[in-house]
Amino acid sequence: MIFLNFKTYPESTGQNSLKLLDSVAQAIIENSSVKELVYVAPSIIDLGVAKNKFDGLNIMAQHVDTQTAGSTTGWITADNIIAQDITYTLYNHSEHRVFGDNIVENINYLQSKGLKVIFCCENIEEAKIALEAKPFAIAYEPKELIGSGVSVTTKPEAVAEFIALVKGKSLALIGAGVSTKEDIKKGIELGADGALLASAFVKAADPKAKLMELVEPFLA
Ligand code: G3P
Repeated sequence: MIFLNFKTYPESTGQNSLKLLDSVAQAIIENSSVKELVYVAPSIIDLGVAKNKFDGLNIMAQHVDTQTAGSTTGWITADNIIAQDITYTLYNHSEHRVFGDNIVENINYLQSKGLKVIFCCENIEEAKIALEAKPFAIAYEPKELIGSGVSVTTKPEAVAEFIALVKGKSLALIGAGVSTKEDIKKGIELGADGALLASAFVKAADPKAKLMELVEPFLA
């Protein structure tokens, strides 16, 4: 599985978000197996348009708040996301941290609302705590490698320790610097169920070609 985090890059928002989404749609036309392998997380401002225009894609949120629906202003509530018929969300991404004493309670709440939570962690300790809520998936992303182009698979011992802890309880995803099919292959060899990535796809000269490269190891 590949989770594409569009973040809020200029290359991935507004009209550019639609171009990236279309490249995913074109990849699915080229190989229908891509459809179940790929999840895309546009920015919150583009999420509704993405869902409306590309309903055939697995659209997910980059973040969700635990404020309840109603007299709450400016938050992203679970009900808002579910109302868009979106059931997957990243949570606690390094660039939108919410980790704290209530993290297990928060994950449980979000999942009780029908969301499948892809919990992002920066270290093994956070993964251990998040596992108490058995999120849909846990993504291990060392902060220092995010956006670096240096793949997390260059830290095989840490990845192997994470996967040994998580696999079988939640989907074990790896992220940060994942950029090539070799990085994906290495991750699969280490036991990862999938990868979470951003810049390699968002900033690719040919996003569709890059996506077809990244999914290749899952299709082999
Ligand atoms: O959410 C995935 C992201 O944090 C990884 O960023 O650019 O290293 O793929 P990147």
